[in-house]
Amino acid sequence: MNFSDSEIVASIITENDYATTDKAEDADVIFLNTCSIRENAEQKVLNRLKQLQYLRKHRPGMILGVLGCMAERMKTSLLEEERMGMRVDMVAGPDSYRDLPRLLNDVESGHQAVNVILSSEETYADITPVRYASNGVSAFISIMRGCENFCSYCVVPFTRGKERSRDPESILEEALELFNMGFREVTLLGQNVNSYSWTNASAGKEWNFPMLMEAVARVNPLLRIRFATSHPKDMSDELLEVIAANENICRAIHLPAQSGSSAVLKRMNRKYNREDYLGRIEAIRRIIPQCAVSTDLIAGFCGETDQDHADTLSLMKEVGFDFAFMFKYSERPDTLAAKKLKDDVPDEVKSTRLQQIIELQNKLSLESNRADVGKIFEVLVEGRSRKSAKMVSGRNSQNKVVVFPDKDYKPGDYIKVKILECTSATLKGETAE
Ligand code: 5AD
Ligand code: SF4
Repeated sequence: MNFSDSEIVASIITENDYATTDKAEDADVIFLNTCSIRENAEQKVLNRLKQLQYLRKHRPGMILGVLGCMAERMKTSLLEEERMGMRVDMVAGPDSYRDLPRLLNDVESGHQAVNVILSSEETYADITPVRYASNGVSAFISIMRGCENFCSYCVVPFTRGKERSRDPESILEEALELFNMGFREVTLLGQNVNSYSWTNASAGKEWNFPMLMEAVARVNPLLRIRFATSHPKDMSDELLEVIAANENICRAIHLPAQSGSSAVLKRMNRKYNREDYLGRIEAIRRIIPQCAVSTDLIAGFCGETDQDHADTLSLMKEVGFDFAFMFKYSERPDTLAAKKLKDDVPDEVKSTRLQQIIELQNKLSLESNRADVGKIFEVLVEGRSRKSAKMVSGRNSQNKVVVFPDKDYKPGDYIKVKILECTSATLKGETAE
């Protein structure tokens, strides 16, 4: 989401006579687009801000701004030089990027500048993102912003505000434009894409997420569609059927489970239990054969017992996730958990549990990849492999990285590849035709 937001920021800024640069040393303005999801994400930003202070010595007029969730959460406190032990000139929350040119003017005339007002409408629908760090093949399209699910551990509803959806016409235009520019894959982005909703009063038409997916899939059969992220409570059969019916919608669903214990899920305010989650997995397997399933898991949430942790491990085995993002629980200020629950799992226990989760997932990923050896997949080429100039790298519909020998392929080519071997992270193969 931040990557996509940075592309919007780049667009707003370049419209105002700035240009982007790869070198921090050359920059007149540096914005850090920040994440508050876990404490170590914020710590990284603070370290980076401190490192960047040395550039000020060489470039006295340089402007340093903090954007994103941390700006929203910490507000003007980020500007308190004494307290922070460093100087920041500007703070702008996720809904105030249109205001950046004015904020920059304020800073240039010698003031610190702040805008952390959250909006219930801003979707940046009319802004064409500048794809400045793109591989030219896959791009993000932001379709909604904010979240009102209030999972008890999560800071996002506080930093990104109310849920709002973007006009479908502007989404379809952006997808077509990307296709015409040579992009071959778009990921529709939102905190909870399943609750996408748009009413076109004049046409009397109501859009939901399955309808939007279907419309984007029709932009061009050569344009692959992905989406992130879904909430299990809203993963409807209607959506699964749309995926099954459209070959260019990728066979990969990211469905964050967070925990395998119903008691923990209840405390997390996830609004589903273990059985509900497994029911959604069963529906995915039934409606979309060959669909990869990935997840997010949190180790050591408030009150998590050994048995709760064992339930997470058993859920992982039962589902056989292809891939997972795995985290240690980190208490975030203002959340329901911070206010009402005790962060009572000792850090060493969190670490041990996380390690067990990671080790199990490595095994599951390897098993899943081994099952693909011998199969043929259509791979969208993204570029040269990082490890060898003679190999190219791309992804299959299941979102697995596939590496194979280059035969003058170009990014954006679709190539049929037969899988010959694998690691837990990569499939390796050869051209099948
Ligand atoms: N601590 C640890 N992980 C968290 N996540 C969200 N909030 C926290 C937190 N306080 C994880 C969830 C979510 C992913 C984006 O980050 O697994 O799905
Ligand atoms: Fe956070 Fe839950 Fe919203 Fe995801 S659905 S952003 S975890 S509150």
